[in-house]
Amino acid sequence: MAKSKEGYFTEENSIDVVNERISEQCDPRLKEVMTVIVRKLHEAVKEIEPTQDEWMQAIMFLTQTGHKTDDWRQEFILLSDILGVSMLVDAINSRRPSGASENTVLGPFHIQGAPQLEMGANISLDGKGEPMYVSGRIIDTQGNPISGAQIDIWQANEDGFYDVQQKGIQPDFNLRGVFHTGEDGKYYFKSAKPKYYPIPDDGPVGKLLASLGRHPYRPAHFHYIVQKKGYETLTTHLFDPDDEYIHSDAVFGVKESLMADFKRIEDLKKIAEHGFTQPYFEVEYDFVLAREK
Ligand code: BEZ
Ligand code: FE
Repeated sequence: MAKSKEGYFTEENSIDVVNERISEQCDPRLKEVMTVIVRKLHEAVKEIEPTQDEWMQAIMFLTQTGHKTDDWRQEFILLSDILGVSMLVDAINSRRPSGASENTVLGPFHIQGAPQLEMGANISLDGKGEPMYVSGRIIDTQGNPISGAQIDIWQANEDGFYDVQQKGIQPDFNLRGVFHTGEDGKYYFKSAKPKYYPIPDDGPVGKLLASLGRHPYRPAHFHYIVQKKGYETLTTHLFDPDDEYIHSDAVFGVKESLMADFKRIEDLKKIAEHGFTQPYFEVEYDFVLAREK
């Protein structure tokens, strides 16, 4: 009988002795997942050789991460975000044909039930910030317009806060809206230029970032979920390429293809045409949906 089968644990056979305990009746996918995790975890511990104090520090970090998590705050997702794991899982699950728009992280600030609006509506309910006009088309990989696509949009305000982070300060559903495309696949709406903001950093994940000498900021962006039956759902952002954090997003969400041009428009005729009273930013971007596999 192999020594590991006898169940005696040694530093050398630690991986086998743990994995060989998994029952043959265990769900095969769970077995596959746990076998890999045990192997990689033991390999990491063998390479790091933590002291008992260091291991206890790791346990306390995870304990604090759990304590910080509730119905409103998901500290484990933040941990996955800042370690690049959220983006990796997203990349693995959204491999698309070339030409299709790319996904990025959902983030914790999406809410269901945002108001359904007419094309052209202004989602800035408090009128604060620099005005922005966003337009584009929802098309398929052949360039054909997709009608009846649902576009769910949300973003932070000029101070870098989402409405849900400032209850009583911002109106509910500020800078959120759901739109539906017509036959031409076009979408357009008014808003306010977003700004960079820190991910919630008042918990253990924020402390870890600081200890690693990393900042907690995400570059200015606005979020989209574009859905249409028969097509893969696109969960993505558009980024301001001139933002100071564009090359160091705390959650690694930036992709080159998701940078939009934020053009400052000062032309008085165009300003009046859009019902603005001051120069505004114009963003034009087409989203290409891939057919469902
Ligand atoms: C966001 O873009 O809303 C976001 C994404 C990941 C972590 C925190 C915020
Ligand atoms: Fe965001």
